[in-house]
Amino acid sequence: MLALSDLTTNYGRIAALKGVSLEVKEGEVVALIGANGAGKTTLLKTVCGIVSPASGEILFQGAHIGGKDPSDLYSRGMALIPEGRGILTTMTVRDNLLLGFYNRKASSAEIARDMDEMLTRFPVLRDRIDQSASVLSGGEQQMLAISRALLARPKLLLMDEPSLGLAPLVVQQVFETVLDLQREGLTILLVEQNAKQALQVSDRAYVLETGKIVLSGEAEALLTSPDVQKAYIGGR
Ligand SMILES: Nc1ncnc2c1ncn2[C@@H]1O[C@H](COP(=O)(O)OP(=O)(O)OP(=O)(O)O)[C@@H](O)[C@H]1O
Ligand SMILES: [Mg+2]
Repeated sequence: MLALSDLTTNYGRIAALKGVSLEVKEGEVVALIGANGAGKTTLLKTVCGIVSPASGEILFQGAHIGGKDPSDLYSRGMALIPEGRGILTTMTVRDNLLLGFYNRKASSAEIARDMDEMLTRFPVLRDRIDQSASVLSGGEQQMLAISRALLARPKLLLMDEPSLGLAPLVVQQVFETVLDLQREGLTILLVEQNAKQALQVSDRAYVLETGKIVLSGEAEALLTSPDVQKAYIGGR
């Protein structure tokens, strides 16, 4: 589905990604874990075209997409839930959800059906559909961000720290949602600092340190790896 090879991304003279190779196969949930500043967000931004790579290759569904713009990639089936959720707080919940359709050619009947399906999945959003998104709690905003991304019918979902800043119970809900989506067959690249829980819902994972992949493998194996335990789980 997605393959990065030897990808580098720079911000001026700062090298944020230094030759990253990574693969996400169809139907997999792949976690990308790493500390603050490791380059996780940069990797997602490079994949979805917000930032251009300096070198290397990005293949998405067999096509070279390095340097393509975000709107093009969105139309091809890539949806990003950005760090901080990207909810438009000046708009209602409904209008935020409708944004999910902007690159789809959906009839009003399809829109109504898909909206209804999503609101059944996340009933809390139905209760608040005509309220400003600004009054939602952090967890509700995350559900809104996930819903909006899903309404675009993505083939690949990119999630940037969906559990960040949420209460433990809500964090649990976010990871349960990831598990549900995995069972439904969605392909997900999940960026998290919450390594333990991310690994528990993933098939495979990569560890990013200062722009380089330092470890990768089956999520279960990484969960018990002493290196990962020490650096990303033990101390937390
Ligand atoms: N727009 C930018 N201009 C210059 N440097 C940047 C920019 N965005 C990120 N960086 C730098 O690139 C490096 C990687 O940042 P990035 O945001 O990708 O890390 P991250 O792993 O997502 O961190 P966090 O866990 O804090 O979100 C950091 O050193 C950061 O300071
Ligand atoms: Mg980040």
